[in-house]
Amino acid sequence: MKKYTEIKDISNLSEMIKEAILLKMQPLEFSELGKHKTLVMLFFNSSLRTRLSTEKAARNLGMHVSILNVNDAWNIEFEDGSIMNAGSSEHIKEAAQVISQYADIIAVRAFPSLTDKEKDASEFILNSFIKYATVPIVNMESATAHPLQALADAITITELSETRKPKVVLSWAPHPKPLPQAVANSFVEMMQNMEVDLTITHPEGYELDANITKNTPIHHNQEDALKDADFVYVKNWSNYKAYGQILNEDPNWMMTQEKLGKAKFMHCLPVRRNVVVEDAVLDSGQSVVINQANNRTFAAQVVLKNILENL
Ligand code: CP
Repeated sequence: MKKYTEIKDISNLSEMIKEAILLKMQPLEFSELGKHKTLVMLFFNSSLRTRLSTEKAARNLGMHVSILNVNDAWNIEFEDGSIMNAGSSEHIKEAAQVISQYADIIAVRAFPSLTDKEKDASEFILNSFIKYATVPIVNMESATAHPLQALADAITITELSETRKPKVVLSWAPHPKPLPQAVANSFVEMMQNMEVDLTITHPEGYELDANITKNTPIHHNQEDALKDADFVYVKNWSNYKAYGQILNEDPNWMMTQEKLGKAKFMHCLPVRRNVVVEDAVLDSGQSVVINQANNRTFAAQVVLKNILENL
């Protein structure tokens, strides 16, 4: 593996999941692999799980870890040819090359603006690091994708599935703030690469990018979609057509114990209780959100291991 910025960077998903599960059993087996190597993690946005699990994964492999909250550093300019006489002090061309001198792998978290659809779709922050850094890049959630989360989710479903081809439902939920489409996008892409029966349910008008959903069935009736589900992944995303807007806050889309039936409940976290999902679900044995969060470590570890082996 040369980088992990999108799910397409995984050449053999089932092997990668197996390897992650083995790492989970023996997390320190490769603790010499990353010796004298450094992971630099750059955060343009907040994080709890990604930050701590990726750091833990790197340390399990013997790596040094440096973390920079980018807002504490010089303001970075991303436009090519810009006259930098305003707020930005440093261009990505220098910043990425300089950071590459301190890092063997750079991991980046950079959310979308949710105001400029075209610019967000261009993934200008992530792609600038890919372009100007001289070391491999890992995506810790970008404008349109969260592939580390999706790999953790794939590991979780593989571990917990009781049938050969589980029915997996991605269900939209209400949220008071506009959220990115990244988690939903990557979850859909990941499930399309797995032996699962995937269905998406959301209110009319909340369609994700058709280039991502492809032929995946989409229902606007949540109850119909949830029938016989084995796993229900609940996630809010803001409107994609009326880009970044909240056009629906219907509380009837909140996940409840009654709607969940016998399915396992999944969410990437953080989650707003009694807005996205009711307490009874999160507090029940059907919730696997803590398993998902635990698997973030082994998703990151298997990715870092595969990159380290190719340095
Ligand atoms: N799920 C996830 O990426 O969590 P954080 O935003 O806390 O990293």
